[in-house]
Amino acid sequence: MWHMLLKIALLSLALEQSSRCGAASTYNNPSSNARHFPSDFMWGVGSSSYQIEGGWNADDKGESIWDYLTHNNREKIVDQSNGDISADSYHQWRRDVQMVRELHVTSYRFSLSWPRIMPGGYMNHVSTAGIKYYSNLIDELLKYNITPMVTMYHWDLPQRLQELGGWTNPEIIPLFKDYARLVLEMYGDRVKLWTTINEPWHVCEHGYGVDYMAPSYNFPGIPAYLCGHNLLKAHAEVVHMYREQFQQRQGGRIGITVDTSWPEPKNPDSAEDREASERAMQFYIGWFAHPIFSKHGNYPKVMIERIRNMSKQQGFGSRSRLPEFTPEEIHRIKGTSDFFGINSYTSNLVTPNGHNNTGKFPIPSFNHDMGVVESQADVDWPGSGSVWLKVYPKGMYNLLMWIHREYNGPEMIITENGVSDRGGLEDYARVDYINLYLSAVLDAIEDGANVKGYITWSLMDSYEWKAGYTEKFGLYHVDFSSPERTRTPKISARVFGNICKTNTIDWSFRPKLNEEQLVASARLPAEEAAENGGARLKWSLALLLSVVLAWIHC
Ligand code: BGC
Repeated sequence: MWHMLLKIALLSLALEQSSRCGAASTYNNPSSNARHFPSDFMWGVGSSSYQIEGGWNADDKGESIWDYLTHNNREKIVDQSNGDISADSYHQWRRDVQMVRELHVTSYRFSLSWPRIMPGGYMNHVSTAGIKYYSNLIDELLKYNITPMVTMYHWDLPQRLQELGGWTNPEIIPLFKDYARLVLEMYGDRVKLWTTINEPWHVCEHGYGVDYMAPSYNFPGIPAYLCGHNLLKAHAEVVHMYREQFQQRQGGRIGITVDTSWPEPKNPDSAEDREASERAMQFYIGWFAHPIFSKHGNYPKVMIERIRNMSKQQGFGSRSRLPEFTPEEIHRIKGTSDFFGINSYTSNLVTPNGHNNTGKFPIPSFNHDMGVVESQADVDWPGSGSVWLKVYPKGMYNLLMWIHREYNGPEMIITENGVSDRGGLEDYARVDYINLYLSAVLDAIEDGANVKGYITWSLMDSYEWKAGYTEKFGLYHVDFSSPERTRTPKISARVFGNICKTNTIDWSFRPKLNEEQLVASARLPAEEAAENGGARLKWSLALLLSVVLAWIHC
C-alpha cells in the first residue's frame, strides 16, 4: 500500500514539476496533454512462433534450433525451461485473436515456424497440419478486419539445416527461397504485409558470434559475417521473387526488420564519443540496412575498411573476414524492401574502444571490429525486468531521426518496442514506457520522420529465449501453470487498447484493476506477486530520481 501512496505522491510531484519545465523534458513529463497520431497510423501487437506456440512436436512438426538448444543444453537457459508448450498458441490461437481484437489494433505481427511447415527444412516434406494452422489463424484475423503482418523467419531454423551450417552455408539461399515461395503460394492471397527476416544482427552475431542465441556457436569474428552475407542474399532473392511472381497478383508489400539499441555518445561534447555512436549505428543497423536502403548499396564503408584492415593486421592475409559482394550482387540487394522495419527497446552510452583494447573484446570479434564500448552503468535511466533494458525514450527519437537522415526518409514501421517486468497485472511501468516511447515517436513524426506504424511487443507473456519465463513482455498475462494457459489482460492492455482506439496518448488514463483482473491477480503464483511488488518499488524509486533530476535541471 505504502508504495502505491509513494507512487501517487511522486506522480503528482512529476505533474506539477512538468508544468514548470519546458517542452524539452517531454520524456520525463507524464502530464503532457493528450497527443494525437495521424489518422492512418497503423497500430499493432506482436509475437513469434517459438515464443508462444508450444506444440513443439505436434503433428509432424520438425525440430528447430531452439528445440535442439533447449533440450540439449538446458543449463544455458536461466530457468532451464523450454518452449515445448509455452503459451500453447498452437491450440489457443482463437483466444489470441480475441485478445488482438480487444486491443483495437489494426494489425497482428506473428511469425511462421519453418519446421512446422517444412519439418526437415526441404520442400520434399510439407506439413498439411502446419499449413492449416497458420491458414486458420490468418482467416480468423481477417474475419475481424485485422491485417496479418507475417514474418517468415523469427529465429526457429529447422535443426537439419543447422547441421549443414545454417545461415553460414550459401545453400540456405535457395532453401529459404523454396520455403518463402511455399508460404507466399499458401497465404499470399490473404497476407498483404510480409517481412522476410526478423533482426538479422541477432540471427548472425548472437547466433554465431557469441554464445547467446541458438545455435550458440560462440565463434567470434568470422561466421557472423558469413551469416549476414547469405542472409542478405536470401532476403533479396525472396523479395525479387515476390515482386516478379506474386506482388502484382497479390497486391501486398514486403520488407525486412532490423534492430538496434540507440548508441548515445557518453559525452555529447566529445567528438570521439559522437564518432563511436555513428560507428555503432553503421555496424548494428548499417550492416544490413546499408546494402538495402542506401543510395549506392553494399556494406557501410567504415565496416568494409575497418574489417579489411584488422583482418590484415591479424594475419588473415588479403581476404577480409567480411565477405565482398560483386557489383551484380550489390545491385540485386539494393532497394529490396518496401518499408524500413525497425525494432528497438533501449539505449546504451558509447565511447570508443581504445587501440590496445585492454582485454575488453576477443580478437577478432564483431565488437572489436566495431571498436565501441557500450554501457548503461553511468545512467539514471529507469530499469526493467531485463538487465539490458533501460528506459530512455529520447533514444527512440534519436534512432528514428538517424534512419530518416541516413536513408533519405524511408517509410518506417516500428515492428517491435516494449518493456519487460517480472510479472503481475499492475504493470504501470509498462504503461509509462509505452506512453513515453510513443511521445518520442510522435516527436520524430513531427520532425519529419516518416513513421507509419507502431507494433508493441508483445501480445502476451511468452518464452523469452535464454531468459526462459523469467522476463515478461506481454500486455496479457499468461498463467503458465494452468493447462489452458489462461490469459488475462494487464493494465497495459487496457491502456494500449485505448491508445489504438483513440489514436491518442492520454496520460490521465490509468485504470485500476477490474474484477476479472482482481480475481486473476489473487491467483498469481507467489514469486510473481512478490516480483510485481518489487518491480513497483524499483520503478517508484527510479521515478523519484527522475523527478529530482528534472527539478534540478529546471
Ligand atoms: C526479439 C523478440 C524478443 C524481444 C525482447 C527482440 O529482439 O525479436 O523475440 O522477445 O527482443 O527481448
